[in-house]
Amino acid sequence: MNIAVFGLGFVGLTTALGFADKGFSVRGFDINESRRVEISRGKLPFFEPGLDGALARNLGKTFAATDTAEEAAKTSDVCFFCVGTPANADGSADLTHLLSAMDGALAVTAETCVLVVKSTVPPGTLAKRVEPYIREKGRGNPVAANPEFLREGYCWEDFVNPDRIVCGVTDKAARELLSRLYESFGAPVRFVSPSTAEFIKYLSNTLLATLISYSNEMSLIANAVGDIEIANAFHILHEDKRLAGAGIDAYIYPGCGYGGYCLPKDTLALKAVSQANGVKPRSLGEVIALNNKMPEHTAQRIIDAAENNDAKIGILGLSFKPGSDDVRDSSAAKIIKILKEKGYGNIYGYDPLAIDEFRRVYGTDITCCSSANELCGTCDVVAVVTAWEEFKGLDKAFPNVKWVDCRYFL
Ligand SMILES: NC(=O)c1ccc[n+]([C@@H]2O[C@H](COP(=O)([O-])OP(=O)(O)OC[C@H]3O[C@@H](n4cnc5c(N)ncnc54)[C@H](O)[C@@H]3O)[C@@H](O)[C@H]2O)c1
Repeated sequence: MNIAVFGLGFVGLTTALGFADKGFSVRGFDINESRRVEISRGKLPFFEPGLDGALARNLGKTFAATDTAEEAAKTSDVCFFCVGTPANADGSADLTHLLSAMDGALAVTAETCVLVVKSTVPPGTLAKRVEPYIREKGRGNPVAANPEFLREGYCWEDFVNPDRIVCGVTDKAARELLSRLYESFGAPVRFVSPSTAEFIKYLSNTLLATLISYSNEMSLIANAVGDIEIANAFHILHEDKRLAGAGIDAYIYPGCGYGGYCLPKDTLALKAVSQANGVKPRSLGEVIALNNKMPEHTAQRIIDAAENNDAKIGILGLSFKPGSDDVRDSSAAKIIKILKEKGYGNIYGYDPLAIDEFRRVYGTDITCCSSANELCGTCDVVAVVTAWEEFKGLDKAFPNVKWVDCRYFL
């Protein structure tokens, strides 16, 4: 079976290499030329454990990154669309990349080629936007929704060992093809309607966002009351047998607010869909509102510790979460912006993986340090913004620094 993958980011490259590793013939295309070139040379465009080995094993054998959409799609039996679905200004999902990738595929594929949307798209997108778009072009290709649940930092592990695989189909050929593709993954394949499949992805991400905002709200209350051991309180909460061992602890824990590529835009997109369908999303609205306030709350804790504007402030952790070099919607960027706006100009930053990416995306108006020790030795106030394991214990090594443990983990 020939597979084409559009978009070679975290989801697309993992999908392409995951199927290539299973022995399928996979061709991937990305509109970002430098990304294509890097991948073709065997280099990962981002940090992601396990993907490097999969690229080395499959490049030039079962996997190739092509220079054109046509080369990727022309002989394919199935096309996976893994392009970005960022937020529009009103919070709704921007489908421009998805529809433009589909144009590329439709121009060259046979009518039998199954078009599978793996990008996260709001419920109703396949039925109300994608399928009509394809039919208006006079094409009868089967379509399917197959949302992805992998976590950055664990892309490979999550893709090859999924909890379950969700396939939204109405078409028999699409169902048969997806059954064959996922046969060897050893996970239950749940066939549902396309809108249900799309909805399940938002159920998952909005629940995680809700747990995070709930935890952050509790930490604000606890801080205001005072004399509450916040980290301890949450760890003891996690011992409840209804939670323990479920792997959910990381989300029921306070921090600086959720960031990254998915939760911010996906909560906004579901809110927009909800409103467009006449439902005012009360709890989801508050989850988002509280999250938007978290950088301000966090910056205020740092300012309270700093005492004056000349203080040297260190930000430990620039990526949106530990184990990743992804800085999209990272808390560090939002907190630094607020500190700068409030006149705190001496800001230093360090991250084990994400310094270069942070500089590339947000510019260089902070001083980047080459190690956590250098930062702690330089700064008056140090805020832990991303919970990298290597930051543990630094407060003991640098007792003269004023510590702001924004992740409650030192
Ligand atoms: N990152 C995650 O943890 C994660 C997890 C599950 C689902 N998702 C969803 O998967 C989708 C992709 O996310 P990602 O993190 O992989 O994004 P990404 O930004 O890492 O990758 C998207 C890629 O698509 C490429 N692209 C854009 N338009 C294209 C086109 N017309 N043809 C070919 N390539 C094109 C971009 O250049 C980019 O490399 C999103 O909808 C996201 O919400 C992401």
